[in-house]
Amino acid sequence: MTTLVIGATGKVGRHVTAQLAERGLAVRALVRRPDQAGLPESVEQVHGDLSDLDSLRAAAHGADSVFLMWPLMSADPAARIAATLAESTRRLVLLSSAAARSGRDDAISRVHLAVEQAVERTALEWTFLQPHGFAANTLGWARQIREDGVVRGAYGSVVSTLIHEADMAAVAVTALAEDGHVGAKYDLTGPQALSHVDQVRVVGEVIGRPIRWEEVSRAAAREQLVKQIPAAYADAMLDAYARLSEAEPDQPTATVAQVTGRPARSYAQWVADHAAEFTGQ
Ligand SMILES: NC(=O)c1ccc[n+]([C@@H]2O[C@H](COP(=O)([O-])OP(=O)(O)OC[C@H]3O[C@@H](n4cnc5c(N)ncnc54)[C@H](OP(=O)(O)O)[C@@H]3O)[C@@H](O)[C@H]2O)c1
Repeated sequence: MTTLVIGATGKVGRHVTAQLAERGLAVRALVRRPDQAGLPESVEQVHGDLSDLDSLRAAAHGADSVFLMWPLMSADPAARIAATLAESTRRLVLLSSAAARSGRDDAISRVHLAVEQAVERTALEWTFLQPHGFAANTLGWARQIREDGVVRGAYGSVVSTLIHEADMAAVAVTALAEDGHVGAKYDLTGPQALSHVDQVRVVGEVIGRPIRWEEVSRAAAREQLVKQIPAAYADAMLDAYARLSEAEPDQPTATVAQVTGRPARSYAQWVADHAAEFTGQ
């Protein structure tokens, strides 16, 4: 069985690629810059881009299944991309978002829902991963932690259920390699709900340095966020925090454990796996 991985150099895709290879399954990665991909030699690399359907068609030829993540700001090409993949592959696991099931009308929700709907309209045997917030989002604090040990942000008391990228990959690989997951929409979280203040405390405990949260206004937090992500995404993220602080606190699900047979990794584990980025060592 050969799996085409789209986004193989990304946070989740890198783990999908490694975990498929660990199972002894053939992996083909669609990469935009093969010289900079940094993938293991056992991984076949095919040069291509989601915006170039001919390159996608060539990459998918002969692959049995596909891991697709959506790095684009628009869902406009989704129908063409899904149809191109459906020409040659049978099974597709999509890294979508919990936003797709939220019923909200913001930039993130609209794109993910539209991509899911485009995939649903094909004959592909699909599985959707619908994660809540990635633990990796807290890498946005790394520079402040390295510089002065103070994380400045808004909505410090808001809890979220941060998920390790390796757990999303484990669910993806299970759905790609095993039967019984077609048509599933997996609501994925980490194992605990922690406030931002507690997340910062956990980083400090794991790297062995005192680190504290300092509450700033939403406007000041937005100013920092838009240096890292598009403004529409920053606004959607801050709106999500505002909602979570009021009516909809984030709750952990048991889906990672149910699908993979292993408990989801804690946030402390995630920090330990990324400690160098917080310490600079
Ligand atoms: N952050 C969250 O809390 C959260 C929550 C739920 C869902 N999500 C969703 O998760 C996805 C992000 O996953 P991630 O963090 O694993 O991704 P990531 O680390 O941002 O990596 C993006 C990947 O996409 C590739 N890529 C970008 N443009 C491409 C193109 N035109 N054609 C082919 N490949 C392209 C990149 O390749 P290069 O190496 O060539 O750049 C890279 O491998 C997004 O759809 C996001 O909305 C995120």
